[in-house]
Amino acid sequence: MTGLLEGRVAVVTGGASGMGRATVELFAQEGAAVAVLDVADELGQETVGAVTAAGGRAIYVPTDVTGSASVARAVADVLDAFGSLDIAVNNAAVMPDDLPVHDMDEEVFRRIVSVDLVGVAVCLKHEVRQLLAQGTGGAIVNIGSTRSRRASGLAPAYSAAKYGVIGLTESAAQQYGSAGLRINAVLPGVVNTPMVAARRAVSGDSDAQYLARVGGVMPRIGDPIEVARATLWLCSDQASYVTGHSLVADGGYLVK
Ligand SMILES: NC(=O)c1ccc[n+]([C@@H]2O[C@H](COP(=O)([O-])OP(=O)(O)OC[C@H]3O[C@@H](n4cnc5c(N)ncnc54)[C@H](O)[C@@H]3O)[C@@H](O)[C@H]2O)c1
Repeated sequence: MTGLLEGRVAVVTGGASGMGRATVELFAQEGAAVAVLDVADELGQETVGAVTAAGGRAIYVPTDVTGSASVARAVADVLDAFGSLDIAVNNAAVMPDDLPVHDMDEEVFRRIVSVDLVGVAVCLKHEVRQLLAQGTGGAIVNIGSTRSRRASGLAPAYSAAKYGVIGLTESAAQQYGSAGLRINAVLPGVVNTPMVAARRAVSGDSDAQYLARVGGVMPRIGDPIEVARATLWLCSDQASYVTGHSLVADGGYLVK
């Protein structure tokens, strides 16, 4: 059976962990050659090892999404390794803040916006340049959050950055639709990843308390693969008429 991404080349930022890693593995299973762009070298190599052990194609490219030169170099490395770029998933992010705005640490605020919003913009810049140069279209997914639609009083920086991801996605979709680029967002709810495990360790909530606070109408936490599948659909030809869209995968949190 032919995979949904057969013959495509994809980059996944933050692909060394959590949902990014699930996306890398799923894309490789679907036939894509995948580049893992991350700052976590050991986990990145481990992800590539898992893909190649399963018969897929992947490389690790150490990349800091906040650095324009780093991202430009990563795109060049991907071209050297695989010859083109067709798909990008801008997923890298750092943990949400946990102080209300009147108590915020401005350095923490800047760091979160720098990775979670400016990092997406920097990646878009270099990815779009490459896709325009190739002239063969392409698909990009930016990973937002339910915090892109419903802010948290205790996470002003993360909420602001994630709201910004939708603005950026819609702006880019508008600008590059005529060039055949489809640019969408995926908004995950609470998903079982190292980021969430770290948040939970700080909160000290029981399972029931945690789900009541952040869960959706489906009484469980999501699995990374459930978000990866939404991203896969948007990046595949199955979504050939979809752009500027924000696809929610949150177990019904936003309708609760
Ligand atoms: N886990 C959740 O419940 C949840 C909910 C909503 C949205 N999200 C979003 O989903 C995405 C993935 O989250 P996750 O839970 O899998 O997180 P994670 O912490 O497991 O993975 C994030 C990855 O991003 C990488 N990263 C961080 N800073 C980077 C930088 N400057 N340059 C390159 N890579 C960098 C990390 O090394 C890590 O591998 C993020 O955008 C996050 O905001 C997560």
